[in-house]
Amino acid sequence: MSKIVIAIDGFSSTGKSTIAKQLAKQLNYIYVDTGAMYRAVTYFAMKNELIGKDFFHSEKLIERLNEIHITFKFNEVLGFAEVYLNGENIEKQIRTLEVSKYVSPVATISEVRQKLVEQQQLMGKDKGIVMDGRDIGTVVFPDAELKIFMTASAETRAQRRYKELLERGHNLSYDEVLENVTTRDRIDSTREDSPLVKADDAIEIDNSDLTIEEQLKTLLELAASKA
Ligand code: C5P
Repeated sequence: MSKIVIAIDGFSSTGKSTIAKQLAKQLNYIYVDTGAMYRAVTYFAMKNELIGKDFFHSEKLIERLNEIHITFKFNEVLGFAEVYLNGENIEKQIRTLEVSKYVSPVATISEVRQKLVEQQQLMGKDKGIVMDGRDIGTVVFPDAELKIFMTASAETRAQRRYKELLERGHNLSYDEVLENVTTRDRIDSTREDSPLVKADDAIEIDNSDLTIEEQLKTLLELAASKA
């Protein structure tokens, strides 16, 4: 079977990365979590005091973009690639609610998007890749052989994210998580550059009532039909 590009887009916390990771493993494809790349830029901005509670020095961040080098390294134990910023493993640091609060404003900046999209396109140039994000089927790989658009109700998504954060030891309320999910959806869908929209040729999957196994089965069948 020939290798294809699989683009998985959708709103925050739709479980895209969980399913994308498993799909890539089954197909022996590379998996790329593009959200982690926007989170890495956000983490850099936070560490360098370019973004905070009531400030965002976006011009300064743009000036310093060439100081940001994002790489992925496969972790054999975890079974997926972790994200590194300038050689430092920041996989844990980027999953906090604080990074989640600042990431969508950072992701509105065209210069940030341009830099990351270029890197994403290079990673997928030989195909055999599953990439998840917000603009993969529309901007990064408009010619992807298979495009999926994942949806689920905001409450289902917030509940999932809340559980995940609690399990990781974060101390927060469900309402804070729901607020973050809905705010990010709004910013991501209304930004000028590459807003989150379903590509015309994407297949929509509402996974509110689907198990991981059911989703995986559907995606494997779809992938086989396109390869
Ligand atoms: O996928 P995840 O929730 O980790 O993404 C974090 C944020 O990064 C999103 O809310 C969005 O603002 C931004 N993002 C984006 N384009 C992508 C992936 C993520 O704008 N391809």
